[in-house]
Amino acid sequence: MSTMLEVSRLCKFFGGIKAINDLTLSVQAGQFLGIIGANGAGKTTLLNLVTGYLTPTSGSITFEGKPIQGLPPYRIARLGIGRTFQITQPFAEMSVLENVMAGALFSEYGRHRTIAQAREDSIEPLELVGLHGQALMPAGSLTLGAKKKLELARALATRPRLLLLDEVMGGLTHEEVEDLMVVLRRIHQSGMTIVMIEHLVHVIVELSDYVFAMNFGMELAQGLPDAVIERPEVIEAYLGVPIESGDA
Ligand SMILES: Nc1ncnc2c1ncn2[C@@H]1O[C@H](COP(=O)(O)OP(=O)(O)OP(=O)(O)O)[C@@H](O)[C@H]1O
Ligand SMILES: [Mg+2]
Repeated sequence: MSTMLEVSRLCKFFGGIKAINDLTLSVQAGQFLGIIGANGAGKTTLLNLVTGYLTPTSGSITFEGKPIQGLPPYRIARLGIGRTFQITQPFAEMSVLENVMAGALFSEYGRHRTIAQAREDSIEPLELVGLHGQALMPAGSLTLGAKKKLELARALATRPRLLLLDEVMGGLTHEEVEDLMVVLRRIHQSGMTIVMIEHLVHVIVELSDYVFAMNFGMELAQGLPDAVIERPEVIEAYLGVPIESGDA
């Protein structure tokens, strides 16, 4: 396997807050990497740094051998990195289809396509996530679960080689989670490299082939999913230490 994304000694400080603190991490081509960590661990900040929404304080980010840190989001998207947002933000007045078309037109491939072609290019992502039946509805009228699927379809429409998912399961019903797991497995099997940030540990364990756990902007553990979630430091970061522990 070749390395697709390499994050090296990355730091992002907001004043005194060390949101990302000397983090080194790599993603192999074809991998399904799960990222876990408690609230505030720095997961979204990491994703925002990789996709150009934030500029690192120091350190480097390399995608397919090219340094990308500091590039604006549209350039990074055109290089082949797609993402979803933790807080869904569709164009509410536009239809579901038009939202996906916006993704399709935004990509390196899509900038040379006509509107009619972009509409055609949007059908497959919509079918893949199971939203084709709601294509003409205003995006603002969708349920939260459907909005998450729309995020995914929009990201897929940019034809990424690396797909970054930020809590795409958050707020979904049990059934919607099961549905989306099938979809993600299918996308991964089609050859996509995926990095998934997720609080639902059973989802991470079932889908990922490697897990990276973070805490306070740093690496806490990494390895095979079952092994990582059984590590005492990972359990402690999630569940906290007993109130009557020795150093309390
Ligand atoms: N723009 C910002 N300005 C100041 N502090 C920030 C900013 N963005 C994030 N932080 C801080 O950086 C730390 C990491 O936040 P981040 O959102 O990356 O965590 P997270 O792991 O995604 O958490 P969650 O699981 O709740 O989504 C937190 O302490 C947060 O308050
Ligand atoms: Mg987050």
